[in-house]
Amino acid sequence: MDFELKTLSPAAAGAQRCDLLVLLVADGFAAGHDALTTLAAVALKQGDLHTRAGASLQCYGAPGVATRRLLLLGVGDGGAAAVRKAVLTLAPLLKAAATKRLVLVTAQALQPQAVGAAVRALSEASYVYTTTKNKPEPRLLARAVLGVPDAAAVHDAFATAAAVVAGVEFAREWANRPANHATPTRLGEAARALARERGLACRLHGPAQVAKLGMGAFMAVAQGSSEPLRFIELHYQGAPKGQAPVVLVGKGITFDAGGISLKPPAGMDEMKFDMGGAASVLGTFRALAQLRPRVNVVGLIPSCENLPDGKAVKPGDVVTSMSGQTIEILNTDAEGRLALCDALAYAARFKPQAVVDLATLTGACVVALGHVRSGLFASDEALAARLQAAGDEALDPCWRMPLDDEYAEGLKSAFADVANVAGRPAGAVTAAKFLQRFVGAFPWAHLDIAGTAWKTGSAKGATGRPVALLVHYLLGVAEAQRDAPQPGRRAPRAA
Ligand code: BES
Ligand code: MN
Ligand code: ZN
Repeated sequence: MDFELKTLSPAAAGAQRCDLLVLLVADGFAAGHDALTTLAAVALKQGDLHTRAGASLQCYGAPGVATRRLLLLGVGDGGAAAVRKAVLTLAPLLKAAATKRLVLVTAQALQPQAVGAAVRALSEASYVYTTTKNKPEPRLLARAVLGVPDAAAVHDAFATAAAVVAGVEFAREWANRPANHATPTRLGEAARALARERGLACRLHGPAQVAKLGMGAFMAVAQGSSEPLRFIELHYQGAPKGQAPVVLVGKGITFDAGGISLKPPAGMDEMKFDMGGAASVLGTFRALAQLRPRVNVVGLIPSCENLPDGKAVKPGDVVTSMSGQTIEILNTDAEGRLALCDALAYAARFKPQAVVDLATLTGACVVALGHVRSGLFASDEALAARLQAAGDEALDPCWRMPLDDEYAEGLKSAFADVANVAGRPAGAVTAAKFLQRFVGAFPWAHLDIAGTAWKTGSAKGATGRPVALLVHYLLGVAEAQRDAPQPGRRAPRAA
């Protein structure tokens, strides 16, 4: 969808032609000399409107307002979280009524973060999935104008949010597609098309190349499916070539039936979302291509299906990973870590400044953190702090989890260097400990997004998380690099 940021006085907003005009009303609201804010002030005074986030009053044919449909919307303290909460309540209005053109206006100056939150919430509230429907109800909202007192003051936050929206919607689209419409092959084609359209580089590795690379763990997952695996590699270059890249690794299991350790049937359809990490890598690249920050980023996606079959890997089988470590596969349903461990080994060749993997890795992480925060595991304090801060800033939060070596005890195997599962306790942590064995000498973080990548129940669908967190993190890296001296460049000689 299309967003436009404008400097707009309430009087000018009242004169806008659109299908719905929304006036944000924050604490401390005061009327100006125009019909719109005067109306809101009267409604507040009469007790028909509150500034509480999400409280609202619908008006029709208000005098002095050009558009017929007007909504006065409380946004609490006007902070990002309150604005997000309030704008999300517009979802039924944006989806049901004929709202093609929306103007959202605020008479009070908003923090840049709050402007970003408004843009993101408008996308979230109006998104509809249509791809595999014969007669879809299409998305109605095509254009949203954001009117603020001073557009220049919030321009950067607006541009970031618009790019995040493009990335999140891209991620949601691919994660939502059913597994028969989002095979590893199709995911590879989507990456290639994205790269071509947006000026990125893309390399696709098929089964033969992956075998040549020695990715025995990844190949073991794929061997039970007749869909050929893909190892997807994306490159975004925003900084000089010598600048070490950030590598993003996304779990791309396009369907996880569990393999021979077959999952129970209830809710198994949701395992089409098991490529949520991959979708978020693609979405992040979509946003990078739009924002063009001064940072180099590599994206790696090991993608395949995990199915039971006569050729499928069996519990007890031992495979050799790209790192050389042998793995006893005690549970074929712990497949994500097998695909990821080879991608993490591959990442070392880029001499990265940091590697961040994203994976719908464990049901145990859902038990630990629910659907609010993603699990964050990190071997590096600075990287952990940056990711946590980026998540908070982007309203895409995560929570630090431990990596004590004692948690790795249960991964011992009598028949290989390591087993792919430990016992039931701390399942999200033992999965992270498994991954950590395959990380080279670079700062590494792992985001377990099993609870946050999609929603279940009546609102079933992908969320596009953690695209926002990653974009904010990468913009922070670019910012820090701009201030620091460039590597490989000689410092200017003192006079
Ligand atoms: N993709 C699942 C994790 C998952 C489960 C995400 C439910 C979201 C909701 C993963 O491949 C898996 O099956 N993990 C197992 C690991 C276990 C066998 C150690 C799990 O969590 O049960
Ligand atoms: Mn699994
Ligand atoms: Zn899985």
